[in-house]
Amino acid sequence: MRKTGRKLAAFTLAAAMVLSMAACGKKAEAPVDTTAATTAEETTVAETEAPASENQKADIVVIGAGGAGMTAAIQAVQDGATNVVVLEKMPITGGNTTRSTGGLNAAATKYQEADGIEDSVDLFVEDTMKGGKDINDKELVTVMAENSAEAVDWVNEIGGDLSVVGMFGGASVKRIHRPSDTSAVGPMLVKTLNAKMAELNIPVLLETTAQKILVDADGKVSGVTAVDKDGKEMTIDCTAVVLATGGFGANMDMVVEYKSDLAGFGTTNHAGATGDGITMAVEDGAALVDMEQIQTHPTVNPDTQTMYTEGVRGNGAILVNKEGLRFVNELETRDVVSAAILKQTDKQCYMIFDQAVRDSLSAIESYVKAGIVTEADTPEALGEAIGVDGDALAETLKTYAGYQASGTDADFGRESMEVPLDQPKYYAALCAPAVHHTMGGVKINTSTEVLKEDGTAIPGLFAAGEVTGGVHGANRLGGNAVTDIVVFGRIAGTAAEKYVMDNGGNTEPEITVAADDAAVTPEVEGGYKDGVYEGTGTGNNGDIKVEVTVEGGNITAVVLKEHGETEGIYEAAEKGVTAEIIKKQTAEVDAVSGATNTSKGIMDAVADALSTAK
Ligand code: FUM
Repeated sequence: MRKTGRKLAAFTLAAAMVLSMAACGKKAEAPVDTTAATTAEETTVAETEAPASENQKADIVVIGAGGAGMTAAIQAVQDGATNVVVLEKMPITGGNTTRSTGGLNAAATKYQEADGIEDSVDLFVEDTMKGGKDINDKELVTVMAENSAEAVDWVNEIGGDLSVVGMFGGASVKRIHRPSDTSAVGPMLVKTLNAKMAELNIPVLLETTAQKILVDADGKVSGVTAVDKDGKEMTIDCTAVVLATGGFGANMDMVVEYKSDLAGFGTTNHAGATGDGITMAVEDGAALVDMEQIQTHPTVNPDTQTMYTEGVRGNGAILVNKEGLRFVNELETRDVVSAAILKQTDKQCYMIFDQAVRDSLSAIESYVKAGIVTEADTPEALGEAIGVDGDALAETLKTYAGYQASGTDADFGRESMEVPLDQPKYYAALCAPAVHHTMGGVKINTSTEVLKEDGTAIPGLFAAGEVTGGVHGANRLGGNAVTDIVVFGRIAGTAAEKYVMDNGGNTEPEITVAADDAAVTPEVEGGYKDGVYEGTGTGNNGDIKVEVTVEGGNITAVVLKEHGETEGIYEAAEKGVTAEIIKKQTAEVDAVSGATNTSKGIMDAVADALSTAK
């Protein structure tokens, strides 16, 4: 249960930036115009004659507050950085990481050891290269695998939980690490990173879109230009930039430009995954790699674009076509499973599981709550409910149970068959492939330096996460994106801070986290009857219940009492929507972009509560 007034720190950050720009003393630095050819002499003249710069100053600017960016910022500060600022164009942090469900792949971890799972860095590298069709950059893959167990430890150290190990497609052994309650990894990780960022006072400027990474006459990074949500332009002078803007899986024009056969596909990506970082890096001469390698996730609800985690199959689910028949080894890599689905009737299939699978993975509860899973007491009844021949489905399940008992899948060679799928109830979820991960991006070396076509680094520019290419080759293994962002996010943070120390050293922060939350007060009269009212609305994952307090005729508090929304998303909606409701004294306010359905659920619940307060 939360009071809205306690949760408004993020609103103050952009304001903190503006106030800080106006108030702090400035160094005599000239902004460098990288669009004009400038000689060294001209630069010197400009520097001595220019008026004091109005620019902000940071040592490291991290562009993108998803998993990779926040990891990089935290690691840089843990390594001694004192002046790090994170820019995020969306109104919430998290990026695609918030949507990540499966887990983090890591080899030779303490959790695998405790479960008696034999794994090694070499096997992890081998699986990843095989999954990526051997076009991955093996040096990057090796660094990822070598640092994966430490990544799990680091997440633990900052307060996260990755203690359950499971099976995923393309992995030779159980290697994917997820929270002990088997819930989705992304919300847990984003919550953990947000908390650590707050603890370390690392400012995040939300709704602030980076536009250009500036380089000086020597080609070294010198700053970032950005624009805030009100269109106000700013320049932050800096020594190093960590680019962590994510991929381009939500930019269908760009997707189709690189892979035309994906026209018309849905996407699992959050709205901010539009490839801006790639464009900015290219403007500074960065090389790109593997841009045409775009992955579809095979099990996505075609109506809502909700991704059913591969963990459901890993824990035992099978796929059947509309004739009720299996057609693929469900734990093959995503490219293979997606291609197989596209050959079935309507290019769709059903994921089928039983109560034992449901009980094994709490991520499934969110699909049930969202109303995108059909259930029945018998396979025959399930078939009937989804329009598939019930006898055929029952026969498929019987055959599969036999394979599971004997340990040999005579039809498709599936090796990991966790359960016989014979425990009522039975469940079905409609699936089709949708764009999931863009494997291509800016070229980096193992220190995360961004490389030019000639193989040399752009001094001061580092990149991590889905904005980069090379780690995943032609097909990413599920669970490797979270490893990628934590391993390379940490390396980028360390490398950026080292670069700062080698190029002038740390400075005092100018952009700071505001100490107190801004008070939210009504801007108009509410005219309601005083009292405390309860109301219900519908969010992404079922009911949202609120309690609305009216004092002196005005709404003074909106408390979310109950909800099943995704962490990170509901926090943003709660923060944004409830503050606006109090200011405007109405339930009809703008939804928070990136958290639209949750915002609407809160507004409907408040409207319901206020219906008796007039
Ligand atoms: O299926 C999933 O949970 C997705 C995981 C991933 O893309 O790594």
